[in-house]
Amino acid sequence: MKPLKTHGTHILSTGSAVPSLCINNDMLSNIIDTSDQWISTRTGIKERRILANHQSIIDLATEASFEALNKGFLDAQELDLILFATSTPNDLFGSASQVQTIIGAYKAAAFDITAACSGFVIALAIAHQFIQTGVYANVLVIGADTLSQWVDWSDRTTCILFGDGAGAAILQKSQDNDILTFELNTNGQESHQLSIAYKSNQKLDTSKQVNVAPKNKSQYQYLTMNGKEVYKFAVSSVPASIVKCLQKTELEVEAITWLLLHQANQRILETVAHKLKISNNRILSNIQFYGNTSAASIPIALNEAFNTGHICNGDIIAISGFGAGLTWGTILVKWNIIQ
Ligand code: COA
Repeated sequence: MKPLKTHGTHILSTGSAVPSLCINNDMLSNIIDTSDQWISTRTGIKERRILANHQSIIDLATEASFEALNKGFLDAQELDLILFATSTPNDLFGSASQVQTIIGAYKAAAFDITAACSGFVIALAIAHQFIQTGVYANVLVIGADTLSQWVDWSDRTTCILFGDGAGAAILQKSQDNDILTFELNTNGQESHQLSIAYKSNQKLDTSKQVNVAPKNKSQYQYLTMNGKEVYKFAVSSVPASIVKCLQKTELEVEAITWLLLHQANQRILETVAHKLKISNNRILSNIQFYGNTSAASIPIALNEAFNTGHICNGDIIAISGFGAGLTWGTILVKWNIIQ
């Protein structure tokens, strides 16, 4: 039997895309009973990008993917796998295959991963496994969501938080390993705290073994959230997850150069940093411009921080996702992009 050989995972490049339509807090206060002051002090959000009618999540995902491919000097035909982390696909059967066709990645297997705001971190961990085992050499990981299409725009407790966007990263088989460790968690008992529930109107008459045509089409409900519980969950579980990763790698918290958390709320980012005794100037945050873009928030922030020269080679980044499920997890990355 051949000895099992493991490979390193290198982050080759990143990309991101957001819609051009920008809705600021003052504009929102014209349609719901809220104010810029309330939203900014409670969340740090000043504006968010919203998909226009003629656009789809696929437009954003492909734009982010093309940026990552161009920056990595990689032809789409060299991709072996596309992982599309999204909870808002434009096809319930999955949207990854549409991205595969548009970018021309004809040799790549492609499928969706549904894990809301933890989706990108989970997809990175999956990509890393495929590369480590030598199954695939080039994996495109996309995180994209368009929750503006799923929130109730008359519910001021949720609609002010979310925006649309996409981000991407290409992971490549390498001798060096940029992914130091990861850990993932789920607590399904609390899934009701944040969900987009499905309501079935189908009625199956089992005596006749025929499907009685429903009067109303079955459909998903609006996004619902217990903000306070989700807040408490985030500020307790995320620091613990980062500490677990530090213990696994025998690193001290001082080794973390950047804290890159899912961009849900500036107060969550700062509370997590405070609990870990990490200063606020080591938090990567762009929440004021985009709000919570779910699976897209981490790759957008990562791409922007790299493009603006914040992240440098040798930096250690603690990347944590958290959200619906409830799911959460952390990946420790040592940045090593060759420009
Ligand atoms: N504008 C103005 N007032 C608002 C408002 C809005 N958009 N939304 C709620 N309020 C009001 C409430 O009605 C309440 O009024 P009351 O005191 O008269 O009853 C008051 O503001 C306080 O509401 P509360 O829900 O207690 O606020 P909060 O301090 O918990 O902040 C969140 C609300 C949503 C910002 C906060 O709970 C949060 O960020 N939670 C985490 C959410 C999250 O990140 N989810 C995604 C994770 S992936």
